[in-house]
Amino acid sequence: MTATDAGLFTEIDHVAIAVRDLDAAIAWYREAFGATVDHREVVEHDGVEEALLKVADSYVQLLTPTRDDSPVAKYLAAKGEGLHHVGYRVADCAAALDAAKATGVKAIDAAPRPGSRGTTVAFLHPKTAFGTLIELVQE
Ligand code: CO
Repeated sequence: MTATDAGLFTEIDHVAIAVRDLDAAIAWYREAFGATVDHREVVEHDGVEEALLKVADSYVQLLTPTRDDSPVAKYLAAKGEGLHHVGYRVADCAAALDAAKATGVKAIDAAPRPGSRGTTVAFLHPKTAFGTLIELVQE
C-alpha cells in the first residue's frame, strides 16, 4: 500500500455528474470550457452511458441512464441533475475496500468489480460517508 498524505487515495479519479442528455452535456462542456471527450462507454451492469472529459490526470464523468431501472435513473428522478459521486483512485481496490469496511464504512459492493475503462471499482454508501457516494477506482 502506498502511503501518502491522502492515505489510501492516490488521485481523484473522477467527479461524476448525472445528466439527462449526454450529448447536450458534452456539447455544453465543449462550448463553455473547450473540454473534449477522452473516452465514452456504455456500462451495461450499471445501466449507464458515460463520457469522460480529461482534466489533468483526472476526469469529469458525465453519466446518463440507459434504462429506467438503473440507479442513475432513480437518482435523476429523485434529485435531478447534478453531482452524483466522487471516484477516488487507489492502488489496490480490495485492500482499500477492506480497510474502509474495517472502520465501519458501509459498502454497496461486497467485493471489487469491473468498472469502465478496464478499471476495478467498489462503491461506498453515502449514509456512512457524510452524504457522498464514493467510488474506489483501481486502474
Ligand atoms: Co464513477
